[in-house]
Amino acid sequence: MVWQVGVDSAHRGQGVASSLLQAVVDRAVSQGARWLETTITADNRASIALFSALARNRGARLSVGGLFGDDLFAGSHIAEDLYRIGPFV
Ligand SMILES: CC(C)(COP(=O)(O)OP(=O)(O)OC[C@H]1O[C@@H](n2cnc3c(N)ncnc32)[C@H](O)[C@@H]1OP(=O)(O)O)[C@@H](O)C(=O)NCCC(=O)NCCS
Repeated sequence: MVWQVGVDSAHRGQGVASSLLQAVVDRAVSQGARWLETTITADNRASIALFSALARNRGARLSVGGLFGDDLFAGSHIAEDLYRIGPFV
């Protein structure tokens, strides 16, 4: 489960988050993990692109489904979708 990823705005778009995620996945896979899950809001284009690129670069499947509906956030936050990527080999 990846919960929160952030790169300082001065350093975005240079592959920092992609490199971080690749390293995390490499480490987790070496310990037996085969799947990664995260949640993303539908308005977060950068994060959707980041995790889509991870799946593409790993030749892994990416599935998206509803997880936390906006009714759970009492108007303070929009829905969080579940992104599931794998299996990693
Ligand atoms: C999401 C975030 C971590 C991405 O970090 P980053 O270091 O800029 O990402 P990278 O440079 O590694 O890019 C990864 C991929 O996403 C794409 N991407 C990055 N920013 C993008 C944007 N604003 N719009 C569309 N695509 C974007 C890149 O083109 C790349 O895809 P590619 O390999 O197909 O070219 C960064 O934008 C951020 O910190 N955002 C604010 C915090 C946040 O919303 N975090 C996620 C929710 S917790």
